[in-house]
Amino acid sequence: MSAGRASRPVVRRLADAETVARAGAGEWVRLFRAARAKGRRFRVALAGGSTPRRLYGTLAAEPFAGMWEPAGVDFLFGDERAVAPDAAESNYRMAREALLDPVRAPAARVHRMEAERDDLDAAARDYEASLARVCGTRPRDAGGPPPSLDLVLLGLGPDGHTASLFPHAPALRESARWVVAADAPPPPLLPQARRLTVTFPLLRRAAMVVFLVEGESKAARLAEVLDGPADPERLPAQGVAPVAGRLVWLVDRAAASKLVHAPVVDG
Ligand code: 6PG
Repeated sequence: MSAGRASRPVVRRLADAETVARAGAGEWVRLFRAARAKGRRFRVALAGGSTPRRLYGTLAAEPFAGMWEPAGVDFLFGDERAVAPDAAESNYRMAREALLDPVRAPAARVHRMEAERDDLDAAARDYEASLARVCGTRPRDAGGPPPSLDLVLLGLGPDGHTASLFPHAPALRESARWVVAADAPPPPLLPQARRLTVTFPLLRRAAMVVFLVEGESKAARLAEVLDGPADPERLPAQGVAPVAGRLVWLVDRAAASKLVHAPVVDG
């Protein structure tokens, strides 16, 4: 794997989950406006899991809902579980319920990962083609580099995974593909073993990556990721290191409670 340790991240310590969501919504609106000022749509990869639900709800409610327009966004995804799109475990379903339906996102602007397909490798390749099409760049199989997304939202799993990049998984060492099929540890530890996930090569090209981390249960793992020695094979979240973009961690007080060395700013 050529991804190194995430370097010089900004860690924003926020009072609680509500302020984390508002801070995330603020970044979203700022980046949305920057993309629109350039005359193009805002390209964002949504995160799964449960933490982003509050951010999505915040974006769909006033005052934030009035600050951006869903028709000016291409909604992409960072990972998906191999379930039907209406299954309880589906990341798409969570995003649809919390954000896409409430804001009436046009169907043509929503680009979900088809992880319910039998051939996950083909689904991953098709998603790479979608990324190139949405971003107006050369497809990977025509030699194109990974596109640069405006914003990638990520979470931190209890084992240090992010997106569906799990400790010691082959996907961590992927150097060419932008999206691959991956395996999570089997249930019940995590809801669904088979996944699709973006890879480090795509994440490294992002203009901005925002991690959302909340709760005391994440504190020790977050301290390992941000304060501990670099070991992205064991702690995949450490491997997210945008080469020319920004890396921001939005963490609530409880999750930040074990940080010692990380460059934390309050608010
Ligand atoms: C998934 C994810 C995963 C998630 C983290 C944090 O599909 O499970 O995308 O990487 O973001 O596990 O999940 P929580 O927000 O539920 O803690």
